[in-house]
Amino acid sequence: MFRPRRLRRNEAIRSMVRENHLRATDFIYPLFIEEGENIKKEIVSMPGVFRYSLDQLDEELKEIIDLGIPSIMLFGIPKHKDAVGSESWNDQGIVQLAIQYIKKNYPSLYVIADVCFCEYTDHGHCGVLEPSINSKDGYDVSNDKTLINLEKQSISMAKAGADLLAPSGMMDGMIATMRDVLDLNEFENIPIMSYAVKYSSAFYGPFRDAADSTPSFGDRKTYQMDPANRIEALKEAALDVEEGADILMVKPALSYLDIIRELKESHDLPIAAYNVSGEYAMVKAAAQKGWIDGEKVMMEKLVSMKRAGADIILSYHAKEAAKLL
Ligand code: PBG
Repeated sequence: MFRPRRLRRNEAIRSMVRENHLRATDFIYPLFIEEGENIKKEIVSMPGVFRYSLDQLDEELKEIIDLGIPSIMLFGIPKHKDAVGSESWNDQGIVQLAIQYIKKNYPSLYVIADVCFCEYTDHGHCGVLEPSINSKDGYDVSNDKTLINLEKQSISMAKAGADLLAPSGMMDGMIATMRDVLDLNEFENIPIMSYAVKYSSAFYGPFRDAADSTPSFGDRKTYQMDPANRIEALKEAALDVEEGADILMVKPALSYLDIIRELKESHDLPIAAYNVSGEYAMVKAAAQKGWIDGEKVMMEKLVSMKRAGADIILSYHAKEAAKLL
């Protein structure tokens, strides 16, 4: 009889035949930077995750570096919002200042800028609105007007010193637009990690509290993908590869492990998985109630993303996980 249990008899042999491993260097840790002073505010639906003003950030940055996490992803919470999200391309905007500060004082940290508008618009949508009789709310996000602003935001983030740009708005043609404008401005060495396959997901709820980016009306279904679709995900990824993406991301991670696997098998680019806010919040809530072992569930979830094919994991669990590794 073949006995698979022979290779499970103790931890020594289990670790020798283990197929996938988590490392601190797998992670990107998302950070919320709020304009203002003296802010260190825990996000209610994301225990252990805080909004920081720039003057309160040092301790957090040092901890991230000490834990061996190589990279952070910045989300800005500006004071001033308007219809087009113009703060997002202000060279003195909160994320631009944060990038400059971090690259100057912590040059070893790899700084990624999320490139989008929902944190900067007063309506909370990911771009410029235009009237639309075809959409249920009477408005829709104009793809091509948003692309024009995306160029401005990309250049501003690149000038500030971002190591990598990660557009999350799901506008058609966003990768080609960014690649062109970056190359024209001598930022040809800045890579783009595309939120290539981003679903219109209820798992983003806690993030929207964290970043004040809940749409004031309607939803994001005219630009983010339908959770029921798989073939469309392959199409989205193929388009972004053609347009020049360097890394492909799938978001959320857990309900979409099949999509991570498919992208890994159909492309030779690194694949990132975004373990989103709702996925984090569910583990925390159940652990607080004593219904699950939070640490064990966390590690099991994270390694499942690697097993599915993710090379990179964006996660609010990054620090806790790195501590256990
Ligand atoms: C914004 C953006 C969102 C997230 C990352 N970038 C929210 C959204 O699309 O509504 C979600 C992250 C998370 O839930 O952790 N463009």
